[in-house]
Amino acid sequence: MLKPIISRSSLAILRRSPISSIYKSGVRLTSSRSTPAIQEGLGDFALTDRVAIVTGGNRGLGLEAALALSAAGSRAVYCLDLPEKPGENWNAARQSVAKLGGARRLEYVTADVRDQKTLFKTVEEIATKEGRMDICVAAAGISGAARSCLEYTEEELEEVHDVNFKGVFFSAQAAARQMVRFQLPGSIILLASIAGSVALKHTPILPYNTSKAAVIQMARVMACELAQKNIRVNSLSPGFIETPMTKAVISVQPEFQSIWSEQSFMNRLGKPHELRGIMTWLASDASSFCTGSNIIVDGGYTAW
Ligand SMILES: NC(=O)c1ccc[n+]([C@@H]2O[C@H](COP(=O)([O-])OP(=O)(O)OC[C@H]3O[C@@H](n4cnc5c(N)ncnc54)[C@H](O)[C@@H]3O)[C@@H](O)[C@H]2O)c1
Repeated sequence: MLKPIISRSSLAILRRSPISSIYKSGVRLTSSRSTPAIQEGLGDFALTDRVAIVTGGNRGLGLEAALALSAAGSRAVYCLDLPEKPGENWNAARQSVAKLGGARRLEYVTADVRDQKTLFKTVEEIATKEGRMDICVAAAGISGAARSCLEYTEEELEEVHDVNFKGVFFSAQAAARQMVRFQLPGSIILLASIAGSVALKHTPILPYNTSKAAVIQMARVMACELAQKNIRVNSLSPGFIETPMTKAVISVQPEFQSIWSEQSFMNRLGKPHELRGIMTWLASDASSFCTGSNIIVDGGYTAW
């Protein structure tokens, strides 16, 4: 006769075990960080009262991340970027966030992610002012020049790695230090790329590829070290998305619209807003068991 998987005595012990009220019937009835937005229906995706920094937040995927985090209820999202003043799109985004109501706001801070000391100071000042630091999206990045791998100079290699590798690391460090200081759980999202996992046909940008591979590994290593401090670190690898970065190339060489599109099952580039869901998920408690992962969103580009 087959033995039951759980013996009668184990069952008795299980029945006596205190079950957390939030897990009654195996269903999570309320969040440990219940908020008004949760009641509004966002559930664990709600970011109410969270404070975030987004590097490269003046435009493109950084600005899109800032909008996504605000829409999910973040109290303050600080966009860090190079220009002294934010651009038109950022100003429009700020106004749209203000219209969302509540205490939500976008802030702009001039910052260079390559300058570790100043970045640490800037992010510390933000965290002190807001009394917390919950989310970091490291989206500042450059593509660098496209040329044969036989031609790249040391300067060209360094230029890309200074922003895409060192800058992303300094940003994650700066935010994580504040999460530790305030003893709060945190989520760090590093913008990598499918270029970190595969070579890009007809797009010879070796320093970009190697910098993104480094970002994917950076997320794993930081996730491993920081899990005990309740900080999650993941990398996000989009395929080709319509942003100022890709539009700049297409405006000079229109053939890249089809070269990049043809590699995806969907035969098109992605739109920035198509990353909003994954960014919100990664930033929020909805992804509480996800760390050290590299999430690919590429319309099928790397699936074959
Ligand atoms: N657009 C795509 O197809 C695509 C695909 C995969 C990954 N990515 C990555 O997503 C991130 C955002 O890309 P995007 O397409 O929005 O590019 P983008 O050029 O539109 O925006 C990048 C932003 O980073 C800022 N930046 C550059 N150097 C900086 C520095 N030293 N300090 C602070 N800010 C700096 C720029 O000023 C700019 O606002 C990048 O890391 C990029 O590699 C983009």
